[in-house]
Amino acid sequence: MKTLTCALIGLLAASTVRGAGAPADPPDARQELREVLRQTPSLAHGAELFRNCVPCHGTDGNGLPQGDVPAIAQQHQRVIAKQLIDYRHAERWDPLMEEVVARHGLSSARDIADVAAYVAAQRRDGARAGTGDGRQVETGARLYSRDCAGCHGADGEGNGVTLVPRLAGQHYKYVLRQLHDTLEQRRPNMPPPHPQLFDPLQVNELTGLADYLARLQPPRRVLTP
Ligand code: HEC
Ligand code: HEC
Repeated sequence: MKTLTCALIGLLAASTVRGAGAPADPPDARQELREVLRQTPSLAHGAELFRNCVPCHGTDGNGLPQGDVPAIAQQHQRVIAKQLIDYRHAERWDPLMEEVVARHGLSSARDIADVAAYVAAQRRDGARAGTGDGRQVETGARLYSRDCAGCHGADGEGNGVTLVPRLAGQHYKYVLRQLHDTLEQRRPNMPPPHPQLFDPLQVNELTGLADYLARLQPPRRVLTP
């Protein structure tokens, strides 16, 4: 019992310390997102803030083909904002991004709206997406149209209004990692029905989905929101 009490106190202390990196008394993630979405973004200020992202995501936000760093260019502005907020509220876990949202002046709703709008307006270069070996692409295409296209769109274009990410032209290894992170409960913000959809799939079906998505060409036109 004593051990349990200590463990609980430890947990509480840890969560207080974790919150210390965020602005004082942070509103909950949803409220913060609503506040961000109310802003009229400044692309010029977004470009300034984006300088902090370049060392990892690249000068045009296309990430790394090896898949460690995702392409964020041409992602829907609202989706980018939500992900940034989720990293801050431990709804999504990644030590690098948690550090980014705790520093770099991304503390106000205004900053998040500005940098997200700037990133969304960059062009995603599908030709530079890292891909798999191509052997499971047809399997991936079949599964995608059966299980995923209803939300993520026939061309993997996503939907900013409903906060569904664009997946077309995203790096293979990054997507594959998200599928496994979801299955292994390392990505808290992946909503149902993802775990249920991924659970019955074989390894070749998961790689097929990721490879198919990496090869889907993002639309040439930068869409908003
Ligand atoms: C130190 C390297 C680093 C820096 C600097 C960095 N990022 Fe990231 N970013 C990453 C990594 C690694 C991931 C993937 C994390 C994961 O798997 O959850 C990521 C993920 C993201 C995602 C989620 C993408 C998705 O498809 O869901 C967004 C949005 C993002 N970063 C935006 C930014 C913005 C905006 C900046 C600058 C303000 C920035 N990042 C700076 C490394 C970095
Ligand atoms: C009911 C709608 C819905 C269905 C069906 C669905 N998704 Fe999603 N998906 C979403 C939403 C919403 C998110 C954003 C979650 C968040 O906020 O992080 C998401 C996020 C993702 C991400 C993370 C993207 C990133 O940039 O990190 C991947 C990968 C993904 N879905 C793959 C799939 C695949 C593959 C399928 C089919 C097997 C699928 N989804 C089916 C709604 C859906």
